[in-house]
Amino acid sequence: MIEVKNLTKIYKLNKKQMAEQKTKDSIKKAVDNVTLTAKEGEIYGLLGPNGAGKTTTLRCVATLLKPTEGSVSVCGYDTVEQPDKVRESISFLTNEIKLDPQFSPKYMFNFFGRLRGIDQKTIDERREELFDYFGIHAFEDKKIEELSTGMKQKAAIAVSLVHDPKVVIFDEPTNGLDIVTARGVTDYLKILKERGKLVIVSTHIMSEAEKLCDRIGIIINGRKAAEGTLDEILAQTGASDLEDAFFEYYKQYHKEV
Ligand SMILES: Nc1ncnc2c1ncn2[C@@H]1O[C@H](COP(=O)(O)OP(=O)(O)OP(=O)(O)O)[C@@H](O)[C@H]1O
Ligand SMILES: [Mg+2]
Repeated sequence: MIEVKNLTKIYKLNKKQMAEQKTKDSIKKAVDNVTLTAKEGEIYGLLGPNGAGKTTTLRCVATLLKPTEGSVSVCGYDTVEQPDKVRESISFLTNEIKLDPQFSPKYMFNFFGRLRGIDQKTIDERREELFDYFGIHAFEDKKIEELSTGMKQKAAIAVSLVHDPKVVIFDEPTNGLDIVTARGVTDYLKILKERGKLVIVSTHIMSEAEKLCDRIGIIINGRKAAEGTLDEILAQTGASDLEDAFFEYYKQYHKEV
């Protein structure tokens, strides 16, 4: 279970960041009092426009950032008090984390497996399953730097799952992928869910969230605008699809800031 309680994250901005973000404020409230809950056996979608605070929220869940206020717990462990316990339970995938370009997918998989203290037999079994599923065998010995975007993403996903984590946190996992590769990834997330894992993904692709997610949290300007199943969100807004519902909330929450 992931419990995000009244999470606020404030970044301090340097002069360059202030210029980039076209602001005179020296701080940026990226996440503003967000509360959400995600449970094992479900795919939770964090939906929001660019700059909404999705990555910041997921980084707090993954122990990479400390909350300014509020708290986050994963599988009962607080991300600040027991970050090591949290890290044992999670897989975190984000566009900013890259595999070392000099090494091959197979090498990286084995390396991270051993780093996690997993025995070689189990590493081999998991590698076979994941490399089979994602079609990685064909390029398993090539250097990461020689791979296409899709190949790199598949390798990064496989490596992130080496320790068979209970909680899978994927930040825009289908970003930059063609529809065939993207479908392979979302289908695998469904397999993980069927195995009882908790999967939390961020996306701004409405159709993906509609098809994939059991529950959806919409965040706009750092604030939670809505949370629920697709049907609940549609009922709350009277909209006929998620995109229309999203724009209803967008009008409301974008204006208010
Ligand atoms: N390290 C940082 N320092 C300062 N400001 C930051 C930092 N990271 C993010 N921000 C700002 O915080 C806000 C939220 O960013 P975040 O990356 O969480 O959004 P996002 O929803 O993931 O957006 P996207 O869809 O573009 O990935 C943005 O205004 C961003 O400019
Ligand atoms: Mg992001």
